[in-house]
Amino acid sequence: RGKRAFIAGIADDNGYGWAIAKSLAAAGAEILVGTWVPALNIFETSLRRGKFDESRVLPDGSLMEITKVYPLDAVYDTPEDVPEDVKSNKRYAGSSKWTVKEVAESVKEDFGSIDILVHSLANGPEVSKPLLETSRYGYLAAISASSYSYVSLLQHFAPIMNPGGASISLTYIASERIIPGYGGGMSSAKAALESDTQVLAFEAGRKHGIRVNTISAGPLRSRAAKAIGFIDMMIDYSLENAPLQKELSAEEVGNAAAFLASPLASAITGAVVYVDNGLNAMGVGV
Ligand code: NAI
Repeated sequence: RGKRAFIAGIADDNGYGWAIAKSLAAAGAEILVGTWVPALNIFETSLRRGKFDESRVLPDGSLMEITKVYPLDAVYDTPEDVPEDVKSNKRYAGSSKWTVKEVAESVKEDFGSIDILVHSLANGPEVSKPLLETSRYGYLAAISASSYSYVSLLQHFAPIMNPGGASISLTYIASERIIPGYGGGMSSAKAALESDTQVLAFEAGRKHGIRVNTISAGPLRSRAAKAIGFIDMMIDYSLENAPLQKELSAEEVGNAAAFLASPLASAITGAVVYVDNGLNAMGVGV
């Protein structure tokens, strides 16, 4: 039987989540997607109208099929956690069962189990503010959406993951080196995500026999990255300074994720894997 993957954090065809879905699909996996509730409508409409058809093409010429798109807001674990103003918000009221617990239950009901869990989402409302000027609200919101969301996803999906399964998230070097401009507590959120990768690898490995790794990816002009505002500078910096002087394609990250999710990586867990043209290894720019 082919593997089944649930990828949280796809709302268009520009980000890492989409590229990971494609690489997994190319390797024969069935694709389920979790899409942020406010972005769901436009994503599904675009998908239906064929707007992504060109980027759905797999290496063998066929089109990637997405078996099902689930609405998801990874900031809420159960319906009881959702505040009234969000519940009654027009964009949320049109969908249902989008808290993490409910999505895991729906996937279980629909398919029974999954093999691969991908967390490709982040959000920091104050990302453009320096950490020194970040509010408590902004900092905690960054951690909630970008770090705890992963703990929650794994907590709720691990019980329906088959032994030998694998889980992957996306992180950024700003967790361990100073990257001015990656503010609002987002650097802190990535540091938490990387540390949690180790602890979760131990706990989920022992309890469920699944692997937990994170990919530290180089810069990509995704929707989220464009919102931060310094992405072109980061891409230029990498082109100039990395050991491999080429622009990083989302596909390269997708392929690394497919490897990490496959039996080829059966002894790799708790790892931060750099997919960044080697930039992380440089001490100074040249
Ligand atoms: P993206 O915009 O394609 O993906 C982010 C996704 O998160 C979006 O689809 C958005 O709708 C979703 N999202 C935000 N809040 C959510 C919530 N509460 N619940 C559910 N979904 C939510 O952008 P990108 O850049 O591909 O981001 C994917 C991951 O890659 C993120 O973890 C990001 O930090 C990481 N990354 C990105 C880099 C880049 O240069 N683009 C570099 C290194 C890591």
